[in-house]
Amino acid sequence: MIKILFVCLGNICRSPLAHAVFKDLVKKANLEDYFEIESCGTGRWHVGGLPDSRMRAEAKKHGVIMDHRARTWHGNDADYFDLILTMDNQNYHDVLQLSNSALHHKIKLFRSYDPDVNNANAEVPDPYYGGAQDFAHVYDIVERTSKNLLATLQQSIKK
Ligand code: 4NP
Repeated sequence: MIKILFVCLGNICRSPLAHAVFKDLVKKANLEDYFEIESCGTGRWHVGGLPDSRMRAEAKKHGVIMDHRARTWHGNDADYFDLILTMDNQNYHDVLQLSNSALHHKIKLFRSYDPDVNNANAEVPDPYYGGAQDFAHVYDIVERTSKNLLATLQQSIKK
């Protein structure tokens, strides 16, 4: 069982999208017994709320339903999860600050799994103050990165 936590700022756009897309891929690959999947935000403004309606609409176009309720970072998350994937560099540094240094090896940028980039600092851009095209762009990044993430992790669970 691999426990994965996706992290962004508000937990209403990027990380719940990665959560829903990755969960959908895992389900389609019949690998649900191998993964525990969760997401959270470093901020607490939206706790308890559904994802942003613009992000939900973009996901729905692709047949992905987003029904996660926003939650913030919990003190034991770095202990509990095996892999913590942050959407941008600010989230990355915030999560490092919130966790014990012995656990920092679990924390990575989500786009370190993007097959289309070779920039170690690539981020999923925050679409919150953007338009429909920004949400579509986020979807594309999250979809291809999630596919590659699953392909990569699948190698370790089949061993
Ligand atoms: P997310 O997007 O971090 O991808 O969920 C945001 C959502 C809300 C805010 C910022 C970013 N906000 O400032 O409320």
